Amino acid sequence: MQKLLIKGKKELIGNIIISGSKNATLPILAASILANNVKLSNVPLVKDIFTMLDLLKFIGLKVKIKKNKKIIQLNCNEKNINTLAPYKLVKTMRAGVLVLGPLLTKFKKAKVSLPGGCAIGTRPVDLHLFALKKLGAKIKIKDGYIIAEAKKGLLGANIKFPSISVGATENALLAAVGAKGQTILSNCAIEPEILDLILFLKKLGFNIKIFGRKIYVIGKNSIKKKINHKIIFDRIEAGTYLILANLIGKKIKIQKIDPKILKYEINTLKKMGAKITSAKNSIFVLENKGLKKISIVTKPYPGFPTDLQAQLMVLMTQAKGISKIKENIFENRFMHVPELKRMGANIKITNKTAIIYGPTKLTGAEVMATDLRASVSLVMAGLIADNRTIINRIYHLDRGYEFLESKLRKCDAIIRRI
Ligand code: UD1
Repeated sequence: MQKLLIKGKKELIGNIIISGSKNATLPILAASILANNVKLSNVPLVKDIFTMLDLLKFIGLKVKIKKNKKIIQLNCNEKNINTLAPYKLVKTMRAGVLVLGPLLTKFKKAKVSLPGGCAIGTRPVDLHLFALKKLGAKIKIKDGYIIAEAKKGLLGANIKFPSISVGATENALLAAVGAKGQTILSNCAIEPEILDLILFLKKLGFNIKIFGRKIYVIGKNSIKKKINHKIIFDRIEAGTYLILANLIGKKIKIQKIDPKILKYEINTLKKMGAKITSAKNSIFVLENKGLKKISIVTKPYPGFPTDLQAQLMVLMTQAKGISKIKENIFENRFMHVPELKRMGANIKITNKTAIIYGPTKLTGAEVMATDLRASVSLVMAGLIADNRTIINRIYHLDRGYEFLESKLRKCDAIIRRI
């Protein structure tokens, strides 16, 4: 089993180039079922993407990967399609459930394994199924599988989500584009990754409009035979390095991003004393000497993302005073706290809120990664800790951070995989 070894306290200086977004690529890969020939560029070559590609290959798509160019080409030949997403490919990555909408709308049936829970919570898919039923799908759950069919095809509908979900918005959208008539989706998630998916679907020939949290699926023009799409930058990866730059950066430039998309994160860090200058496609961060406390609540975009909560918590351990994080999206997303406490952090949890007392000195320890973002928070803690930190179970990190060690080493960090 691989581990990461980190020697802390080394100030970071350098440029970090941000990869394409994993969370935008996954639904766009699922959307490729609706297309013929797709060429995607700026694809992050991380584990979750390969898992999704394995699923698409199982379904019958032809996949070509040009690793050095980060390009993926997909071809969907309708004759060879298998409308099944098996347990072994969905259990490791929940986004596999996103093939349900496109398979159902294009092939009128689909059998997709229920993804089950994960470390950060139960994560049901009831909202996905709620939307598909409104579009006319007949759905039953049998032997751990979602069995869906729409013999005469799906029909457009007005659907108001009872609560905001990224995955349910994506699945509903991917089904609605193939339905007969118009669909209005209300109370949608409007994460930048969903806007990237909409851009992709529009290129494909679908007529979609978005106003606030409402998405209108109006119809389609002729579906293009061939389309190219460049994946949007990974705002969570960018946010992670932005927080890290404030933690132990001397001079860090974060490149190939759009700072406007990170407005909430930048403002939060500025309230903590960050010295950040934004340019058109980059952010420049200077050492933050007097870290100030802050309280935040995680919310759907454009609020503070749950996916940056663990990373911000590490920064809060170094801020003067009492900081607070209320986790409003997932019920079990403080798994990193016991590990951070083992490194010396002073954190208390009451219900959904973590209370962080700072500043505290962190000391290296052997720790265990529990999920993707928790893992990176431990790397960050290791980079500011005294002595050596060993991080176990780093396969979580490989699911979503492309070239983490080499990006950090380019900024002088002492980190290696053993
Ligand atoms: C996506 C992101 C993940 C991020 C999360 C919230 C991808 C691949 N993953 O996950 O990184 O942390 O958004 O920003 O893009 N819920 C239900 N029923 C449902 C669906 C969701 O109750 O059918 C609940 C969830 O348990 C959670 C909340 O809704 O409490 C939000 O989850 P959701 O936005 O759906 O997250 P994902 O799409 O799974």
